This record gives sequence, C-alpha cells and structure tokens, in this order.
Amino acid sequence: MQVQTSGSVVTGDDLPGQLTALRQLHPELYACIDPQRIAAWRATLGRTLEQHDDFGDDADGGRGVVYLKAQALNTRARATGIRTLLGLAAPHGPAPDGRQPVLVDLLGGDGLVRKVCDELGLDDFGILTCDASPHMVAAAWAAGMPALLQRAEQPLLRDGSVDAVLLAYGSHHVPPSDRQTVASEAYRMLRPGGAFVLHDFAVGSPMDVWFEEVTDVYSTTGHKFLHFTRDEIDGYLEKSGFEHREVLEIDDPYTVVGATPEEAELAIGRYLLHMYGLVKVFDGRAEQEAYRWVAERAKSVFRYTGKDGSVTETELRREDATGHWHLTVPRRAIIGVGRRAAGH
Ligand SMILES: C[S@@+](CC[C@H](N)C(=O)[O-])C[C@H]1O[C@@H](n2cnc3c(N)ncnc32)[C@H](O)[C@@H]1O
Repeated sequence: MQVQTSGSVVTGDDLPGQLTALRQLHPELYACIDPQRIAAWRATLGRTLEQHDDFGDDADGGRGVVYLKAQALNTRARATGIRTLLGLAAPHGPAPDGRQPVLVDLLGGDGLVRKVCDELGLDDFGILTCDASPHMVAAAWAAGMPALLQRAEQPLLRDGSVDAVLLAYGSHHVPPSDRQTVASEAYRMLRPGGAFVLHDFAVGSPMDVWFEEVTDVYSTTGHKFLHFTRDEIDGYLEKSGFEHREVLEIDDPYTVVGATPEEAELAIGRYLLHMYGLVKVFDGRAEQEAYRWVAERAKSVFRYTGKDGSVTETELRREDATGHWHLTVPRRAIIGVGRRAAGH
C-alpha cells in the first residue's frame, strides 16, 4: 500500500510529508505532536541523516532490506513477547476524554508491533510508529502504518500527551550515554497513569552471546552494542521520576510454523539469517545448508538453565488440530515498567 497525500508518496526523510499524512489520516496521533519540537528537529535533521544507518538499505551499507524481508516472511514470529509487552503497557482505566489511548513505539521499524496488534486483534492502543531510519519509516508508510522520523532521545511529542511509550526490540542500539534521556523523555510525554515499557536483554544472556558470536561475525554491519542490567534499567526509571516501577523477566521466543519438521527447521534458520543480516553464512554454503547452520547455532545458543537445574531449549511440537509443526526457540527478555502516578 502506497500512502499518498496531495498526490505525493510519503517518504522516510520527508518529515513535512509525514506530518501532513498524520494530520489527514490520523488526527488523533497528529494531536500529540509538538510544533516547537518539530522546528528544532528540522534544524538538525540534515546532520542526523548523514549518520550511518544500520537499518538502511544495502546501498547505504545497512541490513534493513533483509531485516524487513524476515519480518514479512513471518510477522508473528515474536508475537508472544509483543502481546506481553502490550499487556504491561495497558492503560489503567479509560483515557480521560474517551479517546483511544495512544502508544508511541520509539524503535518501531516498519510498524511490526502495530501489524502484530492488528493481526491479533489487540486494540488497546492507537500506535504511532517512530524510527530514526528513513528506510524504516518509508517501509512503515508503504505498509499503511502511521509513522514519524524521530530519534528516541529527541521525541517530538507534547508533554503529557500519550498513554504508553515502548522502547523495544533494539534498545541496546541506544548508547548508554543517551539511555537516561530516553527514559526521562518518556516520563515527560506520558499522561498521569501512563506507562513506559523498556525491553532488552541482559548482559551475558543467550541473546547477548548470539549478537557477539553470530551477528557480529556473520553480518556486514557487525553488532557491537551494550545490553542492559536490571539495576541499570531500574536506575533510569527511578531517576526519571516514575512513581511506580518494576523490573521483570518475560518469555520472548521466536516461533515458526512448517508443514513438516524439516520445513519448520529451515523456516527458523531463514528467519534468523535475514533478521540479523547473517549474509556471510552463505559463504561456501548452499541456501538450505546456510539456513540449517543458523538453526543449529540458535539451538545451541538459546538454552536456559533454571535454578533447579532444568533446561529450557528449542521445542518442536505438532499441533493436532492443523497437523502443522511449531518450532519455538526460547528467549528471555528483561523489562522495566515505569508508571506515572494517576493524577500527577
Ligand atoms: C531491531 S529494529 C526493530 C524494529 C521493529 N520494532 C521490530 O521489532 O521489527 C530496531 C530499530 O530501532 C531503530 N533505532 C535505533 N536507534 C534508534 C534511535 N536512537 N531512535 C530511533 N530509532 C532507533 C532502528 O532504525 C531500527 O529500525
């Protein structure tokens, strides 16, 4: 779907075009935008667009094209975690004026979280997808997802204007020096009672190992980013002023479905290879062999040992009703939830 306003397609670096489209098609989201912040952002936008974009297209040395291919092939691969995150963000009580609550997805990519909510019928929120990558913002509009080019540390929304802020599926891309700003800005944007949900993976966890030993080695972009600790997340929430805060762990697996066990295995390998841009795995390997290699690496990395010594590992299960094979790679994420006191 191409979104057009006044005859022109909405592109990723065309902030005025995005604002026009939001005003015309999603006035409830447009109402949250602060014109003064837009003016300041436009003044610095040129410099920002010159920075390297890991999620840009191939010509710019990014891995955004294959990343989006992975999501399109398997929109629901991360649906379990997304459902949990939306539940943690859920409003406590109705929005003040009876309008639909608004959630800002700060690292929204091409609008995957909004797409999954649409598919699962999760309609707690109207979601504004935001991203610093013009490639991702363009892809979001092309898929019919309302989107805005902004940086998580310099959000463009008014004080107390939104009901939830989500920082997920890429929070480690925000450098430690900017993380407190992101949390404080989330507090500023939230209305009383609203929630900030910060999702990432623990330092030293299987996800951290995967990024270091697989993504960093087999992608063209590399992947050298610091993950989070529970204390670090709690510190950001406390310093931002959140009256209620909690840090917890959730299941956030990758799931694929195939007609046979072999198909499911290839599907998880293909998904992870594209998602993490592991193009160097193709060196000296045929396509299916590369997918199998990635699937095997995932099985060996994503393993969790409980306090009682029990091990959670990749599971392949046949669903009787459909005869399909569901393959689940376990993954655990750490989440900080900060909530503003109602009436503050
Ligand atoms: C792994 S992708 C996640 C996209 C989508 N939420 C998903 O789950 O598929 C991470 C996204 O964060 C964006 N990003 C990274 N740093 C950012 C920042 N400081 N501000 C806004 N977006 C940022 C990237 O451009 C990328 O699209």
